[in-house]
Amino acid sequence: MRKTFESVVDPVIIFDNVQKTFNLRHARSLKQTVLSMVRRTDRFEAFNALDHVSFSVNPGESVAVLGRNGSGKSTTLKLLSGVLRPTSGNIYTMGRIAGLLEVGAGFHPDLTGRENVYLNAAILGMTKAETEARFDDILEFSEIGNFIDTEVKRYSSGMYARLGFSVAVHAEHDILLVDEVLSVGDAEFREKCHQKMRELQAAGNTMFIVSHSADQVRKLCQRGIVLDHGRVAFDGPIDDAIAAMQQKKR
Ligand SMILES: Nc1ncnc2c1ncn2[C@@H]1O[C@H](COP(=O)(O)OP(=O)(O)OP(=O)(O)O)[C@@H](O)[C@H]1O
Ligand SMILES: [Mg+2]
Repeated sequence: MRKTFESVVDPVIIFDNVQKTFNLRHARSLKQTVLSMVRRTDRFEAFNALDHVSFSVNPGESVAVLGRNGSGKSTTLKLLSGVLRPTSGNIYTMGRIAGLLEVGAGFHPDLTGRENVYLNAAILGMTKAETEARFDDILEFSEIGNFIDTEVKRYSSGMYARLGFSVAVHAEHDILLVDEVLSVGDAEFREKCHQKMRELQAAGNTMFIVSHSADQVRKLCQRGIVLDHGRVAFDGPIDDAIAAMQQKKR
């Protein structure tokens, strides 16, 4: 059968009717807890952080995930990275994924910056030799300097973000996930990150960016998915997505 143009470009990410339910435990008195155990009634309330979310992303697309606090943005990225599994529905991804999900995630506080670079790179699938070969670039980009041999528990949140971002962008990957971390760095570092991300985009990387800054996502993304209480409220061109977000606030 002849393939149409659309079917030639296979998506690298498919979210197919994805639902993520968390069980919320209610704080109750001891008596109520015992009673609910005896009566075998539910002590948990199911909460849908994501509710039948579907979308697909083509290679090289840069997608912003927008939405108010608690709308499900980080949950979406955690599902994409494999940190969480969907309660129902399917997620398909093609290629290697590197993510910067939370500031300090994947860092061990008692290890030095240098040791954490190796640890994080290993988590991202890099061998020791690959990490060694890139170590100087990672260090230079992070601007951590002599603090690289200090335990990271002495780092500021900006320093955590710099080192984490630097490892993630120097890892071999096809899909980059960035959750909020760019807002932690100072203006100069943020600009450097933007520059690096534009280079990665030009090289064909696919990106998923969570940010509360309309300016930031307008510069980096062509497409925006707006989440509202775990549902997709809008999916389309970034300017329209930002407008949809701003309309919601009113
Ligand atoms: N492990 C968990 N257990 C229970 N509830 C959770 C868990 N993780 C997330 N949630 C809930 O799911 C909802 C969505 O959370 P999520 O972190 O995805 O929001 P977000 O859009 O990233 O918000 P923010 O802008 O504040 O970062 C929230 O109501 C949150 O309380
Ligand atoms: Mg979040």
